[in-house]
Amino acid sequence: PASTSESAHGDLAVGGVPLTEIAGRFGTPVYVLDEAEVRERCRTYRDAFPEAEVLYAAKAFLCRAMAHWIDEEGLGLDVCSAGELELAVTTGFPPERIVLHGNAKSPRDLDTALRLGVGRIVIDSPSEIARLAAAVGPDGHQKVMVRVVPGISAGGHEKIRTGTDDQKFGLSIADGYAQHAIARILDQPRLELTGLHCHLGSQITSVKPYLVAVRRMVGLMRRLREQYGLVLPELDLGGGHGIAYRPGEQALDLTTLARRVRAELADACATAGLPEPRLLIEPGRAIAGPAGVAVYHVLAVKHTGDHVFVAVDGGMSDNPRPALYGVRYAPRLVGRRSTAAPARVTVVGRHCEAGDVLASDVDLPGDVRPGDLLAVPVAGAYHLSMASGYNLVGRPPLIAVRDGHARLLVRRESLEDIRNRDVGL
Ligand code: LLP
Repeated sequence: PASTSESAHGDLAVGGVPLTEIAGRFGTPVYVLDEAEVRERCRTYRDAFPEAEVLYAAKAFLCRAMAHWIDEEGLGLDVCSAGELELAVTTGFPPERIVLHGNAKSPRDLDTALRLGVGRIVIDSPSEIARLAAAVGPDGHQKVMVRVVPGISAGGHEKIRTGTDDQKFGLSIADGYAQHAIARILDQPRLELTGLHCHLGSQITSVKPYLVAVRRMVGLMRRLREQYGLVLPELDLGGGHGIAYRPGEQALDLTTLARRVRAELADACATAGLPEPRLLIEPGRAIAGPAGVAVYHVLAVKHTGDHVFVAVDGGMSDNPRPALYGVRYAPRLVGRRSTAAPARVTVVGRHCEAGDVLASDVDLPGDVRPGDLLAVPVAGAYHLSMASGYNLVGRPPLIAVRDGHARLLVRRESLEDIRNRDVGL
């Protein structure tokens, strides 16, 4: 995070709080989230896209304080479940600034969205149209968008690419499914179609796919005007803005993205003879990711023929991302300064499988030993939100830091929590 500093004896501080202090007070593994950095990133988006509606993608990470910060910074929210929605709204987040997504929305998702009055619901499949219209009821009214697949391959890993035609999200333009679904939405008087949505994928580090998406989406908007006389006022380009996980990696530059998207949209609309739609974007990772750090204790160091394994007290239950997407992190020693020569090691977790690796082939000081603290930067997005209950180790707590103060936001999952859910015998 931006407000990270290092003392002479190697202690790393985030938001003015040394990580050794947090580890001592709250135990490890622990996630630390820098409130100032989250807020700063929200402001960067608002400055880069002043004309757009910026929705934070709650799936990256959500807790009540986070919802509150996002609200205070003037962003909207993208949610994909009744759980995310209810947590935000019961914290006071204005429901009209929330958009509901999902390729398989449950009856509970839809009922909660209608009951709480979400701003827009993004239709993802033909079967959802009649279901939603029925749930809205004869006197109701709901703003909707439709998720369109522009046929673009982009994103940091095959599992997080959602812009290609042959995957589970949205309705393809190329196959005509999008046009067909839109015609059916227009037949529903209780559903008001405000615009088109697309989300290309996640961890995208180039501007190019977004420009292609703008062209294709405006192309579809032009055909809709020709066919139905429909002029849609909104265009949501989703999220996916890539960040740097290790020193030397390049994040997607938001100023460039904003400038190029704006120019492309103006040009495409002028060519099509369409008024420019209001833009929406849905960044998740780029707001929360770099603001978080995960901290572990080293429990064991083991030498095999080919490797040195450094085992920590967390692992794939608090960070499944290396196992799922092959993401590479750069852990570092904190709490003491070592003069030992660097050694090539593999940082592994404590779980019962060989794939439980946090960082393979990274350099750490050669004298790394049990009792040391390791920090894994860029752990604010898709870490706690994807944490599992594997091996019943309990999910780690999340601590917010700001101006030298640490505050517990999400407490550690205790054995008692686990036992309380287990109601059999
Ligand atoms: N909008 C929609 C409709 C989405 O599905 C997503 C992410 C976003 C926005 C936000 O994307 P972001 O700006 O955070 O890239 N678990 C994976 C990431 C999955 C992203 C799913 N959808 C990971 O850990 O990399």
